[in-house]
Amino acid sequence: MALRQLISAESIQARVTEIGAQIDRDYPDGVLYLICILKGSCYFHADLSRAIKRDVFLDFMGISSYGKGKTSSGEVKITKDLDISLEGTHVLIVEDIVDTGVTLDYLTRVLEERKPKSVRIAALLDKPDRRIKQVKVAYSGFQIPDEFVVGYGLDYAEKYRNLPDVCVLEPDEDDSVTG
Ligand code: IMP
Ligand code: MG
Repeated sequence: MALRQLISAESIQARVTEIGAQIDRDYPDGVLYLICILKGSCYFHADLSRAIKRDVFLDFMGISSYGKGKTSSGEVKITKDLDISLEGTHVLIVEDIVDTGVTLDYLTRVLEERKPKSVRIAALLDKPDRRIKQVKVAYSGFQIPDEFVVGYGLDYAEKYRNLPDVCVLEPDEDDSVTG
């Protein structure tokens, strides 16, 4: 497998700073929870929260929608729930990537049932070509083509999360199967 840089660490930081400033402008007073969707959005959540100047509260949720490979299992499961109640709070779901939209469609509905004041989505990456469920992404970092990417939290079978850049993972030419 070969890695091809798609978005540099510097571009990511610049965009995250812009999104943080936008969130500061948009949100009224009141409690704002940034919900990290583990594990893919751990760096985006850490960087975005520090790009926001208003008070925010952090929590973490574990979701599994993908198997170990590159294709979705189509099934969404909560593997770790929040520690707090969301009643009366503003909720911003912080996700690494919107692909088919199945995960965020499910998650938004689950969190809305908990009676927050608002629920919005911030996603670092967006692959619009792959959408199955229409979800409204209030804060989107970068639109990318339909390619499998890793780095800055995103993995392939748990590998490559700690790469500072977002890279396309492509098979080597000599990986092609013959016969
Ligand atoms: P969706 O439910 O199809 O929108 O899938 C969302 C989840 O799939 C993301 O949170 C990622 O964990 C994973 N995913 C989708 N595309 C990629 C990719 O290109 N690289 C790594 N993970 C991805
Ligand atoms: Mg994810």
